Amino acid sequence: MSIKNDLFLRALKGETVERPPVWMMRQAGRYLPEFMAIREKYDFFTRCRTPELASEITVQPIRRYGMDAAILFSDILVIPQAMNIEVQMKPNFGPYLPNPVHDQKGVDEVIVPDVNVELDYVMQAIKATKELLNNDIPLIGFAGSPWTILCYVVQGQGSKTFDKAKEFCFTNPVAAHQLLQKITDTTIAYLKAKVKAGVNAVQVFDSWGGMLSPVDYQEFSFKYIQQIIDALKEEALVIVFGKGCWFALGDMAKSGASALGVDWTCSARNARYLSGGNITLQGNFDPARLLSPPAVIKKMVTQMINEFGKDKYVVNLGHGILPNVPLDNAKAFIDAVKEYQQH
Ligand code: CP3
Repeated sequence: MSIKNDLFLRALKGETVERPPVWMMRQAGRYLPEFMAIREKYDFFTRCRTPELASEITVQPIRRYGMDAAILFSDILVIPQAMNIEVQMKPNFGPYLPNPVHDQKGVDEVIVPDVNVELDYVMQAIKATKELLNNDIPLIGFAGSPWTILCYVVQGQGSKTFDKAKEFCFTNPVAAHQLLQKITDTTIAYLKAKVKAGVNAVQVFDSWGGMLSPVDYQEFSFKYIQQIIDALKEEALVIVFGKGCWFALGDMAKSGASALGVDWTCSARNARYLSGGNITLQGNFDPARLLSPPAVIKKMVTQMINEFGKDKYVVNLGHGILPNVPLDNAKAFIDAVKEYQQH
């Protein structure tokens, strides 16, 4: 069955479109009252592990705003969980890993699981979501980049610097590379299983790639993202989002990925220049700009589309939506794209 609104898939393939497609990173989130209602009743990983809840949460923003793509409600940290590393989600704190990896022994204890067993609940959530979506729009599956997963696995929690993760890589590169390879092998199997279960595209989130220097980025992050792209590109459209990774756009453009995410610190002109002008770009509205009045948001979105150009472009935020965004402001963002007329 083909997808009724395939704007998003066409943009990823670089085809000419009437208007660019739009979705928002973290669009199933705490700014939605219907999300908060479910969140009051079930803890985070229960929401992830229960297909009826994960699929319902996934379609909530679609029902309200009609984005051109849905992204499965889940988390990048289900991967380390499946690899035998305990991950908790603490309310008002975020991810907490009580036993972080910090030496060779810790790396040896990390397993490469059978994703079809350990992460079967994700595949069930995909199937349930596809039913709810009824082939109206595509469904995006995702994973964290191996480097971004290592950041949490070694640091044990969020951080402004991920200093412990970097220290581990720079003082024990042999163990760090073994860990990155185990995460990569798991991620490849996981994303392939997601494609088989029905997702129409996959996005790799390298949320903390921008913590690394351009040289270290190649060694500890991009090398492994490239393995994932090589393994997936024949069977899926792959989007790579590296926050703060403008310096890598040139290499990413040659990687075989279908599209590249851009954050708001890189202008459209610079992103097009650095990526060579031929690959689809996705982004890059400052999430905090959704706090401006709706009329201002609409004007800025129209301007952003004019700067990126309507083709080879997917409208998105430059990172996840913030919990304090008013509902009408999120609506203004989506509506501005749907109302877009070429100038
Ligand atoms: O985009 C979507 O709507 C799908 C859902 C999604 C979640 N996490 C749900 C979630 C996606 C795509 C993610 C990816 C994710 N998770 C990333 C990469 C993207 C990014 O934002 O950089 C990262 C780094 C994580 C790890 C993570 N999960 C953190 C740091 C936190 C706490 C911070 C926060 O926003 O609270 C989470 C928790 C989390 N994952 C929430 C949601 C909706 C909020 C907690 C809750 O709902 O109880």
